[in-house]
Amino acid sequence: MQTDLRGRDMITTQEWTRAEIDTVMEVAHDLKRKRALGEPHAYLRDKSLAMLFFFTSTRTRGSFEAGMAQLGGHGAFIDHTTTQISHGDTAKEIGEIFGRYFDGIAIRQCDWKVGNQYIRDVAEASRVPVLNMQCDVYHPFQILADLMTIQERFGREGLRGKTINVSWAYASSYQKPISVPQSLILLMTRFGMNVRLTHPPEYKLMPDIVEQAKENTRRHGGSFEMLDDFDTGCRGADVVYAKSWGALMTTEDNEESARIGKQYTNWITDEQRMAMAAENAVYMHCLPADRNIEVTDGVLDGPQSIVYDEAENRLHVQKAVMALTMR
Ligand code: CP
Repeated sequence: MQTDLRGRDMITTQEWTRAEIDTVMEVAHDLKRKRALGEPHAYLRDKSLAMLFFFTSTRTRGSFEAGMAQLGGHGAFIDHTTTQISHGDTAKEIGEIFGRYFDGIAIRQCDWKVGNQYIRDVAEASRVPVLNMQCDVYHPFQILADLMTIQERFGREGLRGKTINVSWAYASSYQKPISVPQSLILLMTRFGMNVRLTHPPEYKLMPDIVEQAKENTRRHGGSFEMLDDFDTGCRGADVVYAKSWGALMTTEDNEESARIGKQYTNWITDEQRMAMAAENAVYMHCLPADRNIEVTDGVLDGPQSIVYDEAENRLHVQKAVMALTMR
């Protein structure tokens, strides 16, 4: 267990060692048990977290705010439109000033080619930990919750040799960020899983992220495969994690991206595709999902779906990272 995490930023799991991520998992499992038993765990009494949002949220906002309260502190929800950011407050000023008011700064800024740099600029100026609540490149807390959920299902040592299909799926609601699949292939390749990345040709991820995932596989075992057929990706998989993302690496135009997506409306996770997966396969999705477009009601609400455990575990992993970094 690593005990020297005070003051650390969490911008991508790639910047945390395996031992440090194992520590987060250990603490998260303990905090989940404590909450289930009603045991107080006010490790951050009198501490406060700025929660700065440039983009909407259900789970991230709810779980960070509830998590801070359960740790004995306070999470301050700040919608960027209510700040002076549009009138000139820079990332440096947010880092400097919020760093003097708060004990941590959490940010969601998903704008393409902007979000990650903004969070890094705030972190550069901040004296307190900066936590990435999702940017254009990474969604680290989602993926830590996903890891915890997979460990609960298959055992903490049982991931090696298990196959996860990280697949694109069609959605009509909006061009979703690529941060979830990118973070998934980065983390699951560090736990010896056989990782399949499945998508139509226009839905590539950032090449340097894919290279890092391949390098993780070389170092940690397992395998990394890139496929362009949804059925092949699902066949024999232990985890089907199929969600939509925008064709950002092909076009930055939302309408063009939507037009490309319409060629692939049959990329829906349905009962037939889940039947191709391994016998005890689970279905995962970070939510929100486009029901009956991205995934059928039957799968999302069915016995193989673990999406609500996945959403719950956001709370526990975030509390773990906050307790370890903001003490
Ligand atoms: N999965 C996720 O981040 O959900 P929200 O966008 O609702 O926070």
